[in-house]
Amino acid sequence: MHKRRILTGITTSGTPHLGNYVGAVRPAIAASRREDAESFYFLADYHALIKCGDPARVQRSTLEIAATWLACGLDPDKVFFYRQSDIPEIPELTWLLTCVTAKGLLNRAHAYKAAVDANTAAGEDVDAGVSAGLYMYPVLMAADILIFNAHEVPVGRDQIQHIEMARDIGQRFNHLYAEEYFTLPEARIEENVATLPGTDGRKMSKSYNNTIPLFESPAKLRSAIMGIVTDSRAPGEAKDTEGSNLFALYQAFATPAETASMRAVFAEGIGWGEAKQKLYERIEIELAPLRERYDALMTRPERIEDLLQAGAAKARARTQPFIARLRHAAGIRRLVDASAATVTAKVGAGAALPQLKSYREADGKFHFKLSDGDGTVLLASRGFDAPKEAGMLSAALIEAGGDVEAVRALLLDCAPADELALPAEPIAAALAALKADRLAKAQAKAR
Ligand code: TRP
Repeated sequence: MHKRRILTGITTSGTPHLGNYVGAVRPAIAASRREDAESFYFLADYHALIKCGDPARVQRSTLEIAATWLACGLDPDKVFFYRQSDIPEIPELTWLLTCVTAKGLLNRAHAYKAAVDANTAAGEDVDAGVSAGLYMYPVLMAADILIFNAHEVPVGRDQIQHIEMARDIGQRFNHLYAEEYFTLPEARIEENVATLPGTDGRKMSKSYNNTIPLFESPAKLRSAIMGIVTDSRAPGEAKDTEGSNLFALYQAFATPAETASMRAVFAEGIGWGEAKQKLYERIEIELAPLRERYDALMTRPERIEDLLQAGAAKARARTQPFIARLRHAAGIRRLVDASAATVTAKVGAGAALPQLKSYREADGKFHFKLSDGDGTVLLASRGFDAPKEAGMLSAALIEAGGDVEAVRALLLDCAPADELALPAEPIAAALAALKADRLAKAQAKAR
């Protein structure tokens, strides 16, 4: 069964607050436990540079966000968890996509248009203060999504347009290079995940300055909660749950039974101070164990760095062979590469045959090597513990012959880890020649 790929990026320019936790982190971690899906979570630090010019802030935010996801239960063994800037194939793909993206498409991006409108209203040059990074934001985001061929991208409404642009751009590439390289992603809007209100009742957001901290001290959590704006009803007067931000916050953490009893005490006229205390205590029950993990993680950034490096290696096992294909599609090729469509064997006509040889190295491991007719080494395999394993893979390669896709897949198993991006086409061509030669010899023998 093919798993759905679900991908989420988090820009590393801020410190996660309670709204991020309820609206993004908590539901995403729940979704990552689905067995029928592969989840990708990444720290979008290149995106952070678009809005944040403070290097210390970007680094600190990357650490805080990584620690938050891990503390909240993300299991890096079960998902792909990586930092955008550790995957060089993402900026590389950004350029390939940039070259197929209509400038007019980017002119219509909401964030860019908002900047232009503000400038126009202020009588400034339309592009005043607009970096090319802001303008290119949707292309980088499309690369994030398309490099893993994600099916679904859970996002807030403000990001829907970006997903549509990723579809447009991916489709344009597919069309231009006449193959379905990219899966076209879909935005998934979480209808049942509450947008958490901030202390003033508007959506909780850093830009409104109404956030409640996630992992600061219990005292700071409590004081932010005590600052929640309420109406002026006195204790003893019945309170409305409808439209009450305090109630909405409580509901986001409580079980249905707890919510029902809070509704009852609202009707009975609980005082606001007491209601806030209950809210604080309820949130603290959920956060306290997570905060403990968060604090422990924050003291060991080297451990998080190791996890991110491991995550990048796992992710690059996908992105390296894929970018090799994409580069080839666009014509960024070695001069000896044949085009994928016309890989054929160069047999007969006096051309020397390619050679596939197995050998053992000083470390005791078994290797094989494929060279073309003039002795150029096309592939030197990784080392195998058992000769049988090396033999089976080299036989499978010959069997795959000129089938570039099959060869590419086998290369993932037999190329050394740092050479997974090896171009498959010349290898496939050499194997096709070997296969044809063996076939011819077998036929001659049968006669
Ligand atoms: N633009 C997203 C945001 O601000 C962050 C992001 C970057 C992202 N790349 C992504 C989200 C890819 C989903 C997929 O929220």
